[in-house]
Amino acid sequence: MRRPTILVTGSTGQLGFELARLLPRCGDVIAADRARLDLADPDAVVAAVRGAKPDLIVNAGAYTAVDLAEKEAKEAAAINARAPGILAEEAKRIGAVLIHYSTDYVFDGTRTTPYPETAPTSPLNVYGATKLDGERAIAAVGGGALIFRTSWVYGMRGKNFLLTIRRLAAEREELRIVSDQTGVPNWCRSLAEATARLVGDQPAALADRAGVYHLSATGEASWYEFARAIVGNVAKPRIVPIATVDYPLPARRPAYGVLDTALFRATFGFALPDWRDGLTRCLASPPEPDSAFALAN
Ligand SMILES: NC(=O)c1ccc[n+]([C@@H]2O[C@H](COP(=O)([O-])OP(=O)(O)OC[C@H]3O[C@@H](n4cnc5c(N)ncnc54)[C@H](OP(=O)(O)O)[C@@H]3O)[C@@H](O)[C@H]2O)c1
Repeated sequence: MRRPTILVTGSTGQLGFELARLLPRCGDVIAADRARLDLADPDAVVAAVRGAKPDLIVNAGAYTAVDLAEKEAKEAAAINARAPGILAEEAKRIGAVLIHYSTDYVFDGTRTTPYPETAPTSPLNVYGATKLDGERAIAAVGGGALIFRTSWVYGMRGKNFLLTIRRLAAEREELRIVSDQTGVPNWCRSLAEATARLVGDQPAALADRAGVYHLSATGEASWYEFARAIVGNVAKPRIVPIATVDYPLPARRPAYGVLDTALFRATFGFALPDWRDGLTRCLASPPEPDSAFALAN
């Protein structure tokens, strides 16, 4: 049987890096970083897909600077909304499957129980709005596309809460961390492992499962609880819970973003473990190189 060709965008990102490392077990991977494929350039997106002729596109590229997006709405929309629509069109044209990732920030966080896929969306910030537009652009094309919403992605590379807390913990006596936002931390490798498991060696079969799914670890935490789990049981730094109003940022965040993963479990037959398991594995993993250039082929 012919090995499938898999195009991975955003291959230097947290998730993209892990995907580029894991998906070769499923097919021949073309790992496209920003230099190879600029998602803000529609012609480049079309050319990349037409050149690669993939069986599967995994779109891990995204504009993820949540606060900066408030000022750079056009750039965020080009990458998070327009590019996914083009990828979906190109995938449909050649009968390829598209896997795309979205966010709990499509919701406004007013619920107090986990959000199912069918819950009404109402993003509070530009980033969330552009990600929702990306979901809609993909749905409008109507091909074999799977959208996985996830939350609070971290890992040992890139910019994320875990690395920020570890750096600040080494520098400061006290960390003041927001305790009135609840979500689920997700290790990027767990998300990539789940993706690779779904893809298997027959990505084409995924076309039958097109739709939106919530892909997340189980359990829930506030940023404060996440920080405490990262730092561990130590006397210094002290971790002090604070309210969102005491830590103003340009973009509003949902107070509650826990995703109900029952549909994913029922459809694919497995679930991610509790977020603390992912954190334990992540903290025990060896340090990462900064770049995925070695993986680009
Ligand atoms: N991070 C989170 O907390 C979080 C939460 C919920 C959902 N998600 C979603 O999960 C997915 C993966 O996120 P992540 O955490 O892995 O993000 P990330 O670490 O910020 O990686 C994003 C990747 O996209 C690339 N990118 C940005 N602009 C690009 C452009 N114009 N052309 C090509 N590539 C571009 C970045 O390239 P550079 O390295 O060159 O900038 C980077 O490789 C995204 O869809 C994101 O929206 C993330």
